[in-house]
Amino acid sequence: MTAAADPVKTMKQEVGKAAAALVKSGTIVGLGTGSTTAYAIQYIGDRLKSGDLKDIVGIPTSFQAEVLSKQYGIPLTTLDAIDHIDLAIDGADEVDPQKNLIKGGGAAHTREKVVDYLAQQFIVVVDSGKLVDRLGSVFAVPVEVIPMAISPVMRAIEKLGGKPELRMGVKKAGPVITDQGNMVVDVRFDAIDNPAELEKTLNNIPGVLENGIFVNCTDLVLIGEVQDGQPVV
Ligand code: 5RP
Repeated sequence: MTAAADPVKTMKQEVGKAAAALVKSGTIVGLGTGSTTAYAIQYIGDRLKSGDLKDIVGIPTSFQAEVLSKQYGIPLTTLDAIDHIDLAIDGADEVDPQKNLIKGGGAAHTREKVVDYLAQQFIVVVDSGKLVDRLGSVFAVPVEVIPMAISPVMRAIEKLGGKPELRMGVKKAGPVITDQGNMVVDVRFDAIDNPAELEKTLNNIPGVLENGIFVNCTDLVLIGEVQDGQPVV
């Protein structure tokens, strides 16, 4: 007896594959973080191996993306060595109808924002469960904070009407530490009426490095859905 396929996993695989198919030879590609983008990285690697894709170079958005890219044979570079990014592929935790995003479920939103905003084309890969009418409906806003500023930043966020919670790691053994050595505060808001303004307001708190609201940067959203029992993009 074979186990039934997990529909969310299948949707993620299909969107990852669809995004990987859009990568052109000779380009510089931003490689996002998370379980959906991991499939895109895998399929880009498959295309390189088969010879269907040539001469690409990747810019990873996290240690996770770097490790996966190396595993799948994607040559990597750094932002110091290039002057543009042609295409970035990344996941998201929420997508609103204006294609604004909440990101940072993997605590990688700071590097992701640098890479994704630099890209000439930014493609978001999600399963249909990530679509919301309004940002903040399901997911809290991740805010990366330098460790010595955690207490004042949390107080400042409360004054803005947010409910901050320090993100803890596996078995709550300690706080999650980002690739930059900082901590993440997840902030719930009753309603996010103006994501662009909230993005700026949060980043203006001293001690905040970056938050996970991404506004006016997405060119295309590839959505994985199950229709009539079949995954479609
Ligand atoms: C990491 C991110 C991820 O892209 C986001 O959390 C989506 O991940 P997944 O594809 O695993 O659902 O922002 O910081």
